[in-house]
Amino acid sequence: MTTRRLVADAQGIAEAAGLLRTGRLVAFPTETVYGLGGDATDERAIAAIFAAKQRPRFNPLIVHLPDPATAEALAVLDDRARTLAERFWPGPLTLVLPRRADCPIARLASAGLDTLALRVPAHPVARALLLAVGRPLAGPSANPSGTISPTTADHVLDGLDGRIDAVLDGGPCAVGIESTIVDLSERRAALLRPGGLPAAEIEALIGPLERPGAEDRDAPRSPGRMLRHYAPGRPVRLEARAAQPGEALLGFGPAAPPDCLNLSPGGDLVEAAAHLFAYLRRLDRPEVAAIAVMPIPEHGLGAAINDRLRRAAEPANIAP
Ligand code: TXA
Ligand code: MG
Repeated sequence: MTTRRLVADAQGIAEAAGLLRTGRLVAFPTETVYGLGGDATDERAIAAIFAAKQRPRFNPLIVHLPDPATAEALAVLDDRARTLAERFWPGPLTLVLPRRADCPIARLASAGLDTLALRVPAHPVARALLLAVGRPLAGPSANPSGTISPTTADHVLDGLDGRIDAVLDGGPCAVGIESTIVDLSERRAALLRPGGLPAAEIEALIGPLERPGAEDRDAPRSPGRMLRHYAPGRPVRLEARAAQPGEALLGFGPAAPPDCLNLSPGGDLVEAAAHLFAYLRRLDRPEVAAIAVMPIPEHGLGAAINDRLRRAAEPANIAP
């Protein structure tokens, strides 16, 4: 199969929508990362997504919607869900909610769970595409399972060229890190994945979030929280003050040496998140012994950045 690169204009979006309506796969830009789109109501399209990504079957997918109103037909929203949806959708927030009994989303998309992960993306191309398709789109990050998420169409093609029908090229993603996932399917709300919306903004509205620990990572509540993930080919060393011989330094802030690749010379975490995946890719070269990453503060988007970096640094030999 040849993977086409479609310009994200009206014609490209119409072509992409046509492909998706016939069960084909098209990667599309969102404000967080590129998603690997497939018709969420079509079991075969969902199966094709798992195959293209070589993704473990038990790991459910996020379903993308054009607007918050669509969510009500698929899942049960309580007061907390409505509050968050009203304030943060469209945007980098995914809500895990109980499925409605008559929910038309393919069972395979939620890996057989009674819950559904829903998100309304803010990117204008994603919204236009969802409206043109007229069906919810499943959209995991558009990369082979376990590797670094794509923030440009080139990144998508690096990993999936020949395995999907097309990629809609909407330029680089502004947020650069995946959505924050909050589980509202139980009485106590839980943060399943820190992401592009800082947890503090959510807690300001609905109170403290539970944070399932490492021991819960394989529990059904957070099936996709595999330890090694977002990983480059080279080893990653965290909390580095300087590069050791053979290492490439990924810097952060004004204290970083001037000759290194710097996530944000001014120490801005929003800028650092936007650069994170592209810079890890740039340093992931065969001649590099390891990627050494300077410390990143844990506040704001730092929590999501450090989550991705810790997973990238897990040794490859315990990969699932
Ligand atoms: O920003 C994002 O969220 C991107 C863009 C494309 O929207 N998508 C994304 O999808 O990161 P993916 O498939 O790479 O990550 C989805 C995560 C996984 O960790 C999965 O286990 C979790 O969401 N998830 C999906 N459905 C779930 C459910 N019903 N219950 C718990 N976790 C769920
Ligand atoms: Mg992913």
